[in-house]
Amino acid sequence: MSNSQTASIAASAAPAPVIAIDGPTASGKGTVAQAVANALRWQVLDSGALYRLTALAATRAAIGDDDLNGLAQAARNLDVRFENGAIWLDGGRVEETIRQEAVGNRASRIAALPAVREALLDRQRAFRCAPGLVADGRDMGTIVFPDAPLKIFLVAGAEARARRRAKQLSDKGISANLEDILRDMRERDARDTHRSVAPLVAAQDAITLDSSDWTAEETTRAILQLWSEIVA
Ligand code: DC
Repeated sequence: MSNSQTASIAASAAPAPVIAIDGPTASGKGTVAQAVANALRWQVLDSGALYRLTALAATRAAIGDDDLNGLAQAARNLDVRFENGAIWLDGGRVEETIRQEAVGNRASRIAALPAVREALLDRQRAFRCAPGLVADGRDMGTIVFPDAPLKIFLVAGAEARARRRAKQLSDKGISANLEDILRDMRERDARDTHRSVAPLVAAQDAITLDSSDWTAEETTRAILQLWSEIVA
């Protein structure tokens, strides 16, 4: 076999590239990940949705927070389908329901359980396919895709994030108190950051971007610029 044949087989066997975008709640990861994926025509993985779906499935099945096996099984057996922004759980649409604060708070609690994280690992990795994947979450760059060629740690001040969350809720006609959001957000940050498994930390090779004063478009442009520098 010639060297160029070997090189081309090695190239085709290389895993699809991943842009990992990790960061705290309401840092704008979801919007930016989708925009980057659209620009590159790549797949997108909203890993937080999988934790939210597990929380919702567990609540519907009346599985309590202390039933570790039941929660891991709920994660492993999720019957879920993603399609153009729509999400189905057990055949019913849930993309609005999983965004509720109560679902997010339960997701944050059960995400601290190693058995639940383990149960969702292969499912997350299965999203990786050509031409590439933009994955957003807390541990995309550290645990799920440690070989991602570009890792972004997206941060924003708590007040800026609380204002964004309040606006998202009021756009949906849900009244929200800024102080309550800020308090919930700080609690969730503390839980996500201080848990013993897969805590929210920047990977050693991640680039930290502070989006407090940036629009989603500006953040998207910054990430696309970093990616084009890597490709070049
Ligand atoms: O990104 P989000 O707010 O939709 O995530 C909901 C919760 O899921 C979050 O509080 C922590 C958890 N999560 C996680 O532990 N690891 C991920 N990769 C994504 C989310």
